[in-house]
Amino acid sequence: MVPIVRGDLTGKTVMVTGANSGIGFEAAKHFATMNPARLIIVCRSVEKAQQSIKQIQEETGYKNAEPMALDLGKFSSISEFVTQASKTLDRLDILVENAAVATMGKYIQTEDGWESMLQVNSLGPALHVLLLLPIIMNTAKSHSVVPRIVVVSSEVIFFANIGSDAIAASNTLETLSSKEYCTPEVFATRYQQSKILNIMLVHKLAELLPTNIVPVALNPGFCLSGLRRDAEGERAAKFQTNGEGSRQIIYSAIGGKDEELRGAFTSYSQVLEISDWMLSEEGKKAEDKIWVEMIDLFGKLDDRIPGIVAECFKA
Ligand SMILES: NC(=O)c1ccc[n+]([C@@H]2O[C@H](COP(=O)([O-])OP(=O)(O)OC[C@H]3O[C@@H](n4cnc5c(N)ncnc54)[C@H](OP(=O)(O)O)[C@@H]3O)[C@@H](O)[C@H]2O)c1
Repeated sequence: MVPIVRGDLTGKTVMVTGANSGIGFEAAKHFATMNPARLIIVCRSVEKAQQSIKQIQEETGYKNAEPMALDLGKFSSISEFVTQASKTLDRLDILVENAAVATMGKYIQTEDGWESMLQVNSLGPALHVLLLLPIIMNTAKSHSVVPRIVVVSSEVIFFANIGSDAIAASNTLETLSSKEYCTPEVFATRYQQSKILNIMLVHKLAELLPTNIVPVALNPGFCLSGLRRDAEGERAAKFQTNGEGSRQIIYSAIGGKDEELRGAFTSYSQVLEISDWMLSEEGKKAEDKIWVEMIDLFGKLDDRIPGIVAECFKA
């Protein structure tokens, strides 16, 4: 087990999505013990966030946690969240995109019409990060700090890729989302694919953002969280606790060196090389194509996106 990294977050603002459960809740608790000026507890409802805040206060004594509601499966919720955050947040030093869902092989369509793991785990967090970039970049500039954008991925990225047929299709994301494409065989690796897209997001942010912003992806290791509530007996005994898994979020948020972690994938407090497929020509082509499609999609969903892209990604 890796030791917990500790730091002083005095004056800083930290935001964690999915902070009512599993690894996200444990990470939020760790952050609370490091005295951030503000700790934004992001959950699907304010009630869930308030329950989490109550527990964090009871267990750590920390009193500056604030609730915010966000449904990553609803693009309008992400836009509304950022409109609200832009009014109330004067800085954002650490953003942890932790929330995700695993539907255990079940094809579910969101209200927006996207396959749910693709939207909740990949598209939603990407839009959330992009819309928050102006606050993050302003934090870097105004306070001469190096904010980190921490995206929780998984070691399951080694067990999948994005199919050549989906990459060759005129729109890869729409193809991946469509019910016809999601045969049981294809869909068996959908969760893994959604976690590959998390790493692709971090790669693109590292490529396009100035160096005073550190995007980093991570593998928390297998933990007995809500995602794995069906595990029992011997299988369950092999998992880490959520507290142990959350250490990788803390390492990625405040540990290591900025220049080593920028655009990296961390696991057990080390930078881990990503899969051969992701490093291959096809993997890079998929990364570039999916990025272009995401920016195009997000531009249609929220009219702040073109300005953010022009402002934040200039050379
Ligand atoms: N557990 C593992 O072994 C493992 C391994 C590798 C990576 N991970 C990754 O670790 C992260 C945390 O997962 P976990 O294991 O801690 O699972 P978890 O206990 O199920 O927590 C998932 C969190 O995401 C939230 N969430 C789900 N759908 C959402 C939506 N539509 N909008 C906003 N929030 C939503 C959940 O909220 P509700 O409580 O409202 O559902 C919950 O707070 C995920 O990114 C997961 O992929 C986990």
